[in-house]
Amino acid sequence: MSFIEIRQLKKQFRQAVKSPGLAGAVKHLFSQQYVDKLAVAGIDLDIEEGETVAYVGPNGAGKSTTIKMLTGILVPTSGTVRVGGIDPFKNRMDNARTIGAVFGQRTQLWWDIPVSETFSLLKDIYEIPEDRYRRNLDQFIELLGMEDFLHLTARKLSLGQRMRADLAAALLHNPRTVYLDEPTIGLDIAVKQRIREFIKRSNKENGTTIMLTTHDLGDIEDLCNRLVIIDRGSLIYDGTLEAVKNRFARERVIHCQLQHADIPALHDTFDRMPGVAVESLDAACVSLRFDRFKATASEVISAVMLHGEVADFRIDEPGIEHVIKQVYERQLDLEDGHALAAAGTEAAGA
Ligand SMILES: Nc1ncnc2c1ncn2[C@@H]1O[C@H](COP(=O)(O)OP(=O)(O)OP(=O)(O)O)[C@@H](O)[C@H]1O
Ligand SMILES: [Mg+2]
Repeated sequence: MSFIEIRQLKKQFRQAVKSPGLAGAVKHLFSQQYVDKLAVAGIDLDIEEGETVAYVGPNGAGKSTTIKMLTGILVPTSGTVRVGGIDPFKNRMDNARTIGAVFGQRTQLWWDIPVSETFSLLKDIYEIPEDRYRRNLDQFIELLGMEDFLHLTARKLSLGQRMRADLAAALLHNPRTVYLDEPTIGLDIAVKQRIREFIKRSNKENGTTIMLTTHDLGDIEDLCNRLVIIDRGSLIYDGTLEAVKNRFARERVIHCQLQHADIPALHDTFDRMPGVAVESLDAACVSLRFDRFKATASEVISAVMLHGEVADFRIDEPGIEHVIKQVYERQLDLEDGHALAAAGTEAAGA
């Protein structure tokens, strides 16, 4: 049995259908109409202790709904969830003792009391032994740079300060599992970096299992060794980031600054070279798109150098954003969707 075990998990919401405006609201009062929305449509997922999993997908894919079922906030419509052998909804208290959660969109701090008081209340709630509390708190204050705002109430904190305090509050009791729902949303790069370092450290030193939802691809690259992509409530990819990149980011573009180039000869060479296409070519510069599984960058540059001098060059790799977008888009096509599922299985087994 895996540490986190999700089987055929479904969550259906009843959503009111209303016409816009006041007239619509009044009409809804008299003839209430609803549609059922399957936010999570039968997910199977196994996560082992100590893994760092990025759980990503487009807006409305069902990520937060899944996290809410894992934390025991929502009850599944059908299917099962076990975290460390516990059903999170039926055993909410036991589950709460061993997990930490940060929802980037809303704070879990008490609005009207100083951050330091919140920490001390959490110490009592979770019955954290004094020495461990001290050790953790001192370390967290330093790592997250919280010294300056510990005395402020949560309502006075800036977004970045609030998120750091939320993260510290969620990890103070050394939870075995931490769910982070968009923990870096809206933060500047320095605070993001701090938060990522902190999460990494917790995973490394304490073996904390991390499940992270994010739209920030830097978070995924930096923190997660496994990538799970969902779309419209269903799993469409489960594997390594590397495998997704290999499958969907085969193409690179090489730009060479030229001197004394023989343009017709260059055209001729690259028209015949497999896996390479000319994007643009003039006397000063050539840009070549190539499939890195069919040609290497050095082969491409060597071929350019046969017909001109290369003063400088640059290679562009597609960003992960582009890669994940491709995964989403291909899912819309059913045939490719099957191929995708197969790619995920391959990668997961690799
Ligand atoms: N309490 C609710 N009542 C009705 N519908 C809901 C409720 N919560 C979520 N939904 C619907 O379920 C779907 C999935 O929502 P969810 O918040 O899980 O998406 P998400 O993947 O977290 O998206 P985002 O990236 O925007 O945060 C959406 O269509 C949403 O409108
Ligand atoms: Mg969400």
